[in-house]
Amino acid sequence: MIQKIKDHIAKVEAFTATSKEEVEQFRIQYLGKKGILNNFFAEFKNVPNEQKKDFGQAVNTLKQTAQEKVDTLKQALEDKETAKGVYGDLSRPGEPIPLGSRHPISLVRNKIVEIFSRIGFNVSEGPEIEDDWHNFTALNLPEYHPARDMQDTFFVQKDPDLLLRTHTSTVQVRYMENNKPPIRTISPGRVYRNEAISARSHCFFHQVEGLYVDKGVSFADLKQTLQYFTTEMFGKSKIRLRPSYFPFTEPSAEVDVYWGLETETDYKMTKGTGWLEIMGCGMVDPNVLKNCDIDPEEYSGFAFGMGIDRIALLLHQIPDIRMLSENDIRFLDQFKSVL
Ligand code: DAH
Repeated sequence: MIQKIKDHIAKVEAFTATSKEEVEQFRIQYLGKKGILNNFFAEFKNVPNEQKKDFGQAVNTLKQTAQEKVDTLKQALEDKETAKGVYGDLSRPGEPIPLGSRHPISLVRNKIVEIFSRIGFNVSEGPEIEDDWHNFTALNLPEYHPARDMQDTFFVQKDPDLLLRTHTSTVQVRYMENNKPPIRTISPGRVYRNEAISARSHCFFHQVEGLYVDKGVSFADLKQTLQYFTTEMFGKSKIRLRPSYFPFTEPSAEVDVYWGLETETDYKMTKGTGWLEIMGCGMVDPNVLKNCDIDPEEYSGFAFGMGIDRIALLLHQIPDIRMLSENDIRFLDQFKSVL
C-alpha cells in the first residue's frame, strides 16, 4: 500500500500541464471528493496499527505534493497569460513582413555602382536643374556650337541660363571643379530631353557618367575598363568601339556589346543585329580639363556615359520604356525577388 502511495508521489512530481483544464482535471483526480487522496484516507481504518504512522505520513506527503503541484502549475499558467496581455503570445510564429521591391532602374544603377566601386570609383551627384556652363559650355560646347542641337533641351522659361540637364556629363565638370586628380568617379542620375515619347525613348531617363583623370591615362585603360564592365554587368565580353563624335572627348567612340538574338526582346532592342549600343566614351578633351582648372599637359583622362533605362529593359525583358515610369504596382511587384 505504501509503495502505491510513493508511486503516486512520483507521478504527481512528474506531472506537467499546458492548460488550466488539465490542471483542474489533475486536481479533481487527486484532491477531489472522490479523488485518490480521499480513497487513501478512507483506507486508513483498515491499515494495521503498526503501519498507521508510516501510512499517514505517506498520504500527507502525497496530499502536500499534489496541492503544491496544482498551485505552481496554476500560477505558471496565469503568469503566461499576463505576459500574453502585454506582449502577445511570445511563442507564436512570426508574422511575415510584406516584402517591398526595388525599381528596375534602381536595380541596374546599384549594379553599375557596385561594379565600378570594386575598381575604386566613388559616386558623385549633381543637380537636375543646371546652368548653361555645366551642361554645355564647360563641356566644350560654346554658345552657337552646332552640337548643342544633338540633345533637345528643356529650358527654364524665366531664365535662359537654366535648363534641365540633358546628360550627366554635367557632374564631370562639377566634380573636376571641386576635386583634384587622381579622380575616379561615377555619377548616376536623371536627365531630360525634349523628345517624342515612344516605346524606346522618353523625355526623361537615367544615365551613369564615368570619369577617370590621372597622370598617364590612356585609351587602352578606357578599353580595358569597358571590357571589365560589360563582362561583370552582362556576362558578355565581346564589345566593339565605333569611332564617334562628342564635343567633350577626343577621340570619341560608341560602345556596342554583342548581346545575341535569343528572344523577341533581344531582336527588338538590337534591331535584329544582336549588337547593342550601350554607351558613348572617349578621352576627355583638353579643353574640358582646362575649363575645370586641370592642366592637360600634366593629366589625361577618359569619360563615358551610358543610359540605365535601356539596360534595364534588356536585362529584365521589359518591352516598353514607359512601363518604367507608370508606377503600375502589378509591374513593380514583379521585381520582388531581385536584389
Ligand atoms: N553625354 C553623352 C550623352 O548623353 C554620353 C557621353 C558620351 C558621355 C561620351 C561621356 C562621353 O562622358 O565621354 O549622349
